[in-house]
Amino acid sequence: MPPAARSESGLPIAPVYDESSRNGFDPEAKLGEPGKYPFTRGVYPTMYTGKPWTMRQYAGFGTAKESNERYHQLVKAGTGGLSVAFDLPTQMGHDSDEPIAHGEVGKVGVAIDSLDDMRTLFQGLPLDKVSTSMTINAPASTLLLLYQLVAEDEGIAGHQLTGTIQNDVLKEYIARGTYIYPPKASLRLISDIFAYCRNEIPRWNTISISGYHMAEAGATPVQEIAFTLANAKEYVRTAIAAGLDVDDFAPRLSFFFVARTTLLEEVAKFRAARRIWARVMREEFGAKNPKSQMLRFHTQTAGVQLTAQQPEVNLVRVALQGLGAVLGGTQSLHTNSYDEAIALPTQKAARLALRTQQVIAYETDVTKTVDPFAGSYVIEAMTDDLEAAAVELIQAVEDRGGAVAAIEQGFQKSEIERSAYRTALEIDRGERTVVGLNRFALDEEEPYEPLRVDPQIEVDQCERLAALRKERDNDAVARALDQLRAAASGSDNVLLPMREALRLRATGGEVSHALRDVWGTYVPRDSF
Ligand code: 3HC
Repeated sequence: MPPAARSESGLPIAPVYDESSRNGFDPEAKLGEPGKYPFTRGVYPTMYTGKPWTMRQYAGFGTAKESNERYHQLVKAGTGGLSVAFDLPTQMGHDSDEPIAHGEVGKVGVAIDSLDDMRTLFQGLPLDKVSTSMTINAPASTLLLLYQLVAEDEGIAGHQLTGTIQNDVLKEYIARGTYIYPPKASLRLISDIFAYCRNEIPRWNTISISGYHMAEAGATPVQEIAFTLANAKEYVRTAIAAGLDVDDFAPRLSFFFVARTTLLEEVAKFRAARRIWARVMREEFGAKNPKSQMLRFHTQTAGVQLTAQQPEVNLVRVALQGLGAVLGGTQSLHTNSYDEAIALPTQKAARLALRTQQVIAYETDVTKTVDPFAGSYVIEAMTDDLEAAAVELIQAVEDRGGAVAAIEQGFQKSEIERSAYRTALEIDRGERTVVGLNRFALDEEEPYEPLRVDPQIEVDQCERLAALRKERDNDAVARALDQLRAAASGSDNVLLPMREALRLRATGGEVSHALRDVWGTYVPRDSF
C-alpha cells in the first residue's frame, strides 16, 4: 500500500494514490459476490437491479402541521421514505415553552412536544406502508414511542412499522452536540431501545450509526468510517453486556455516511466500510446471521461542500455526490438542496434535489449493474488502502479503551479538528479548489431571497402546550413520571413506563427532565 498521509499524532489520515497502486494488484482476488460475505460489492445480490435505493429527503420545520404538508408534497413528488428533522428544543429534550427554547422553536426542524403534535405530524400518512426515519438522538426513545402510540391509535401494530431512529449519541459527544445524559446512561438507554424493539417493533432499525456529522466537522473518509465503526463496536459490546444475543439486535443496526464530491474515493470508502464491518461482526462478535454482518447505510450529500457563492453550482456538486453514493451501494439517500448553504430550502429547491436522484435512478444506466466499479484497479486499490488505514485507526481507538474512553480523552474530536484545520488551510492557499469560492469567483454575487421561519410558530406552539397541560390528568402524568424515574434508578427497561407517561400526554421535555433527575447531564471534558 502506498504510504498514507499521517496526522501529527502519526495516525493514518488518507492513503496516497499514484500509479504505483497498480503494482502487483490482482482485482480478481478481491471481488467476491454482491449479497455475500464480506459484502464489498453490496448487501443484496441484486442491489438496484432488484429495487432502487430509498429516496429519503430530510425535511421538517415549523409546526407539525406545516411539516405534515411538506411530507404529503414529498410523497406526491415520489419520495420513497420519510425523514423527519426536529427542532433543537425537541432534539435536546426541552419543551417549546421552556426559556432555553426561545428563538429555536420550529427553526431547524419541527417542534414536537407531545402525542398531540406527533399525531398532527403524521396525519393522513400510511404508517403501515411508509418507512420513517427520525433524526433524533438523546430523546430517541421518546419520539419512537410517540410514533408507536400514534400508529396504535390507527390500529397499526408495532410489527407493521418500519423506519429508523438515529439514536447514536456517541457521535454527538464527538460532533454535533445534541447529547443530554452522561455516556454510561446514554448507552444503557440505547440498549433498552434495542431490547424493546426486538419485542415490540421488530422491523425497526434501532440506530443509525453516523459518520456524516464527523465528516461535516472535518473528518477525512478514513476517519469517518473508522470513528463510526469504533462507535458501532461500543454499541454492540454494550448490548451484549446487557444480555442481548448479537444476532437478536445486530440485523437492525444501520449506518449513515456522507458522500463527498471526490466520487472515486467515496465509492471505495463505502466498499471498505462494508468489508470491515462484515469481518468485525463475524470474527470479533461471532455473529452467525448474515443480516448481522451487513452494513446497510443511508447517505446524505456533503452539506459542508455547498457554497453560498453561485449557489446553482451546488446542483452539480449534489448530482456528483449522489452518483457516488449510488455507485457505492447506498440503501437510502438524501440529496441536499442547492440553496441550503444560505437558508432553509425552498420547496422548488427541495423538489430539484429529489429530481436529481430520479435522474440518476431512471435516466442513467448505473442501476443496471451491481457495483459497476467492481474490478477497477483504482477502485479496488483504494478500497484496500482505505480499509487498511481505517482498521489501523479503529485499533487506535480500541487501544485507548474503546470509543467512550477515547471520547472522554478528547481523542476523536482532536483528530477531526486537525483534519478540519488542514482542509481549511488547503482551501485558503488555493491547493484545494472550491469552484466559485477560491477559483472562478464572480466579482459580485447575484441577489437571493431565502425562506424565513415565522416567529408566530413559537407563540402558537406554546399556546398548544398550555392547553394540553390544562386538559390532561396531571396527577396521572406525575405518577407515570415517578414510575419512569424508578425504572431509570433500577435496571428495568425504561421504555415501558416512558410509553405510559407519553400516552397520558406527558411532554417530551417532562420525560427528559425525569431522566435528567436520575442520570444527570453530560459535561464535556474541555469545559471543566
Ligand atoms: N433485494 C432484496 N431486498 C431488498 C433489496 C434488494 N435489492 N433492496 C431492498 N430490499 C429490502 C430490504 O431487505 C428491506 O426489507 P426488510 O426491512 O424486511 O429488511 C426493504 O427492502 C427496504 O430496504 P432497505 O432496508 O435497504 O431500505 P430502507 O430505506 O428501508 O432502510 C436503512 C435503509 C439505511 C437501513 C435505514 O436505516 C434508513 O432508512 N436510514 C435512514 C436514516 C436517515 O434518513 N437519516 C437522516 C439523517 S439527517 C441528519 O442526521 C441531520 C442532518 O444534519 C444531516
